Amino acid sequence: MGYKDDEQGCPNPLRFFFHPRLVKTVLNAMLLSSIILISGLSAAAYAQATHAHNNQTFTNPVLPGWNSDPSCIFVKERDNTFFCTTSTFLAFPGIPVFASKDLVNWKLASNALNRREQLPDLATAPIQKNGIYASTMRYRDGLFYIITSLVNDRITTGVPVLLFITDDPYDDASWRQPTIIQNPTSNIDPDLFWDNDGKAYMAVAGGPINEIDITTGAAWGTYRVWNGTGGVWPEGPHIYYKDNYYYLMISEGGTETNHTITIARSDTVRGLFVGYESNPLLTAKSTSNYFQTVGHADFFQDVKGNWWAMALATRSGPEWEIYPMGRETVLFAMTWDKGGWPVLDPVQGKQRGPLPPTNRKVPGNGHWVNDPDVENFRTGSSLPRHWVTWRPQDPKLFTASPKGHPNTLRVLPSFHNLTATEDFIPEADALSFISRKQAATLFDFTVDLDFAPKVQDEEAGVTLFLTQFQHIDLGLVQLPSRNGSSSLIPQLRFRVEASGKPGVTVPETVLVPLAAAWRNKTIRLSLSAVSDEKYVLGAALASKPKDILSVGSASALIVSGGTGPFTGAILGVYATSNGGQGKTPAYFSRWRYTPVGQKIDHGVIVPA
Ligand SMILES: *[C@@H]1O[C@H](CO)[C@@H](O)[C@H](O)[C@H]1NC(C)=O
Ligand SMILES: *[C@@H]1O[C@H](CO)[C@@H](O)[C@H](O)[C@H]1NC(C)=O
Ligand SMILES: *[C@@H]1O[C@H](CO)[C@@H](O)[C@H](O)[C@H]1NC(C)=O
Ligand SMILES: *[C@@H]1O[C@H](CO)[C@@H](O)[C@H](O)[C@H]1NC(C)=O
Ligand SMILES: *[C@@H]1O[C@H](CO)[C@@H](O)[C@H](O)[C@H]1NC(C)=O
Repeated sequence: MGYKDDEQGCPNPLRFFFHPRLVKTVLNAMLLSSIILISGLSAAAYAQATHAHNNQTFTNPVLPGWNSDPSCIFVKERDNTFFCTTSTFLAFPGIPVFASKDLVNWKLASNALNRREQLPDLATAPIQKNGIYASTMRYRDGLFYIITSLVNDRITTGVPVLLFITDDPYDDASWRQPTIIQNPTSNIDPDLFWDNDGKAYMAVAGGPINEIDITTGAAWGTYRVWNGTGGVWPEGPHIYYKDNYYYLMISEGGTETNHTITIARSDTVRGLFVGYESNPLLTAKSTSNYFQTVGHADFFQDVKGNWWAMALATRSGPEWEIYPMGRETVLFAMTWDKGGWPVLDPVQGKQRGPLPPTNRKVPGNGHWVNDPDVENFRTGSSLPRHWVTWRPQDPKLFTASPKGHPNTLRVLPSFHNLTATEDFIPEADALSFISRKQAATLFDFTVDLDFAPKVQDEEAGVTLFLTQFQHIDLGLVQLPSRNGSSSLIPQLRFRVEASGKPGVTVPETVLVPLAAAWRNKTIRLSLSAVSDEKYVLGAALASKPKDILSVGSASALIVSGGTGPFTGAILGVYATSNGGQGKTPAYFSRWRYTPVGQKIDHGVIVPA
């Protein structure tokens, strides 16, 4: 805690130091000075890109921010469009479908999991790394299929496998109630494959393949076809049929720095599969690459027959210590000659490949993943569909332009704060927190807050959040004017919850009583990533947005790994009574998230 009278009798030196009239930190200036603009890379950087026609350059990740375990398809029948899905764990809505015409510009088309009643058991998941694990997306005869699994530590009867189906990937409502598919070996990462005779098969992590009936959900005949090359956690299987061979591509070594892509093939889908003698196909293991953990891939072809791969990767460098965005989705070209084995390009920030022409004509009102948020909560608007809560929450907690408060987002406080206490019941207790992904190494986020707390401990603010046990908050909270005093005043509080990441240096809590001139005024809260390792949080009077009071800063190490080994940072707003009696709503407005820079290699940051 930074809020204490120090021994010299000077009341709270931090309060003094951060007084708005004394400190004017212009975050934007700091951001700009920290960007190194790189106009091009050396030819040597491309030397490994050996394929013909690799004449287009693009930047990875193509789905930046927390987007792990990509599964992707190309659908000629839907206007030559590529579709991908990624894992969402506890985030809701979940199982997003991204669409692209050119492999570089991706737009949210829909969320397959968009109604709480589609999967009530998501809400009961007790552990931060529970939720929706890796999916496989496939298209067949006019229908889109996403097969996935729910990991919920409270379900002890095995891992449920769920099959989501739609005929319109641009429409949330058209995603049906999922079919439960039996999972005889209770494993994660289901794949969906139809053999030439129309029979459907499901491969799962660990090697087994089952025949399944996608209508009834029955699964039978467990074939143990290939266990990989000996790495731990053989997972993320996908089956492909090509040139009279069945290929089984998996990842092994775990989803950390030993992650490795391997492949085997067989004359029949039921095996046995024989491993490729030159495995692995690809790994960043034991390299000094900035992009680490490359694995969990999926392969597809474009309209010209070019082969492509999407995989997950972590922008961490070999140190693999600071990676708040977690596992992201990268694109790379590959070749796959007739009767031969696939040859994959190495994953880099600057990548080359035979891209389709640039084309942003993708239907729907979804968010482009690289776009900023410019959200004013206009009357009659609904919340952007790329915003998520932590587990499904009552939609009544978040209202755009409620009566009497146009152009605001009203957030009703939850009794529990973001961390909550041990008696928190996930499916019954609310978490009033709504967010979007951190999708750029450097970003600026500002949001205006009108909040007139009355009761002690009432709080509303902004947070950079990995899990309930790892988050960095700046809130306006009603607290005694000084310790022991009964008079309450609103104070800015910077507080870091890091219990999910033992051993890190946790910055002290900072309390700044709101200056009289700021009371009952609209406060602009700001949260910025000023480098790949540092977040800075501050506040200003919305009427004087340049006079920013810097309140605290924290290392991105705090939100890397720990209780969120599979997820990535999200950021947004919250309101809570902190276990007290408070009921005062918070009104947020003018939500601005601006991507500023992407780090794509050691020492290389490009404009986002
Ligand atoms: C307030 O005072 C109590 C009793 O002296 C002390 O235990 C507590 O740590 C103080 N709290 C803060 C925030 O300084
Ligand atoms: C894979 O390992 C399992 C035991 O873990 C074994 O039953 C199975 O026979 C193995 N399959 C192959 C193809 O080696
Ligand atoms: C990677 O593999 C090596 C050798 O098997 C092992 O010592 C190391 O702990 C592994 N690292 C991770 C992050 O799994
Ligand atoms: C702020 O508004 C509340 C009522 O909403 C009022 O009680 C309080 O006196 C006001 N404070 C200031 C400093 O104007
Ligand atoms: C959350 O609220 C509890 C009381 O319900 C409190 O003890 C705890 O300090 C709060 N933690 C954070 C990070 O706000």
